[in-house]
Amino acid sequence: MADKISVLFTEEEVNARIREMGEQISKDYEGKSLHMVGILKGATFFACELAKRITVPVTIDFMSVSSYGDATESSGVVKITKDLDEPLEGKDVLVVEDIVDTGNTLSYLLDNLQKRGSSSVRLCSLLNKPDRRIKEVDVDYTGFVIPDAFVVGYGLDYAQKYRNLPYIGIVETE
Ligand code: IMP
Ligand code: MG
Repeated sequence: MADKISVLFTEEEVNARIREMGEQISKDYEGKSLHMVGILKGATFFACELAKRITVPVTIDFMSVSSYGDATESSGVVKITKDLDEPLEGKDVLVVEDIVDTGNTLSYLLDNLQKRGSSSVRLCSLLNKPDRRIKEVDVDYTGFVIPDAFVVGYGLDYAQKYRNLPYIGIVETE
């Protein structure tokens, strides 16, 4: 049976917010170039859309991490399953993520990336669920702060489905 999904942010709302974030980031990085690090697979839709709205020179790389545990709960054990293609030395790095939930993934990842000799590392996340935080994470750019609900669309999945929805919705489970 199909899951019931209720719209949280429409396609227009998400795109408008990403445009604003792009403008802010372009201002903050004026005179510099930006190296975006997108986290596969969830952040790909957001990263591409954001990159199109940034007016300083942009390069993009991707990496993949897995956190062990069941589908909707992060276990706190994080493993890099695909590393970056390019070194980070001397670069202004912007990590682009779909959502910061418990913070387990990002606290591990930022720690790891900060040891690679970049000039700066900042974090940009489309969504932020602060109510669920276990590990403290500084999110420099947040698209939307959301309540504790399981969301899909715009790259976010439920058992690998719904990444392609052009809006963000809440999966209604009975
Ligand atoms: P963490 O709990 O902050 O480590 O989040 C790890 C990952 O869990 C995120 O990058 C997402 O892939 C996934 N995740 C957390 N909350 C949601 C959600 O509401 N919908 C879909 N994926 C989620
Ligand atoms: Mg993710």
